[in-house]
Amino acid sequence: MKVFKPHLLALPDYPYTTRQALIKLDQNESPYGLPPELKAELMARLETLPLNRYPEMHAEHLAERIADFEGWPEGGVVVGPGSNTIITALIAASHRVLDLQPSFVHYKRAAELHGTPYQAIPLEESFSLPIDGLVEAMSSAESPGVFFLPNPHAPTGNFFVQERVQVLCEAAAQHDWLMILDEAYYQFAPADLKRQALGRSHLGVLRTFSKAWGLAGVRAGYLLASDEVARVARHLLPPFGLPSPTALAVELALEHPGYVTEAAEKVRRERERVYLELKAHPTWIPYPSHTNFLLVRTPDAAAAFEGLLKRGVLVRRQDHIPGLEGAIRVTIGTPVENDAFLQAAFELAKEEKENEGAASED
Ligand SMILES: Cc1ncc(COP(=O)(O)O)c(C=O)c1O
Repeated sequence: MKVFKPHLLALPDYPYTTRQALIKLDQNESPYGLPPELKAELMARLETLPLNRYPEMHAEHLAERIADFEGWPEGGVVVGPGSNTIITALIAASHRVLDLQPSFVHYKRAAELHGTPYQAIPLEESFSLPIDGLVEAMSSAESPGVFFLPNPHAPTGNFFVQERVQVLCEAAAQHDWLMILDEAYYQFAPADLKRQALGRSHLGVLRTFSKAWGLAGVRAGYLLASDEVARVARHLLPPFGLPSPTALAVELALEHPGYVTEAAEKVRRERERVYLELKAHPTWIPYPSHTNFLLVRTPDAAAAFEGLLKRGVLVRRQDHIPGLEGAIRVTIGTPVENDAFLQAAFELAKEEKENEGAASED
């Protein structure tokens, strides 16, 4: 077919397959969601929403609420139906994309969709930042572009400290790049770097309501940037693009941020428990995490994935990513869900040992 740009015809599907399971720990969602009393309030407010009317052009009212919540100038707030739509907008607008390897898959995916030149620099030992490689890439590029730094990092769960990130911010400013700190998981981390970005036109911060806020189904995310960057990002987002029920739900959540603090604290506690318990596993190695998930190295990711699924626990394979051979990623759920995961993981270890024993007797 000659209608479409040829690179789109060859593009594989987004790397996610829907699977059904009793315990869903595969998409880094919150196990909690809106507390019941807020859900009831949301339903009552939805009743009054005029669904025959278009929403605002760029969710201006919600952008104002976010500006208040974040202490950010209103003109620099961009709201989109999921932070991935804002990522796509920034990539569509930019000359090139710089990324880490591994990284959140959507940066590469969006670059491929738009035919935007893309370069990824591998993480160093212990998933640390390849500062020299990144600075070199920014300084030697033919034209500047956008550099995405997920911090805390997905899919490793690593957290990059301010001093290291600062070097990259300075390089971005020096070489006229736009650096986006993607803080999708900041509520689970020891710190966030939003203050670094305030007043700096070469730095933006991306956040989402899909993780700690427990609103993944609502689809909303936002960018905090300079007025100039925000204006361009808005141009690339469809007008009237944020559904009014979404804006309503997020506005309600922003009135009650206490529930998020509580949910994030529970997840952090559970993450440490699961990490410590998993360290006793004979063949699986969990990596320390500052997010709501754990990356776990196993001897065989396909066997781990299927074995867990057979026991009702759905996780995400990561072993297709160079450098993450054998890895799976498990979202931190409720204590009961985490117990089910741990029990399944240790049952698999036992099964593995029995199989080995049987094989050596043959
Ligand atoms: C690092 C990172 N950024 C952005 C997103 C996208 O979030 P949203 O649901 O707001 O599109 C994710 C989702 O998993 C993520 O891991």
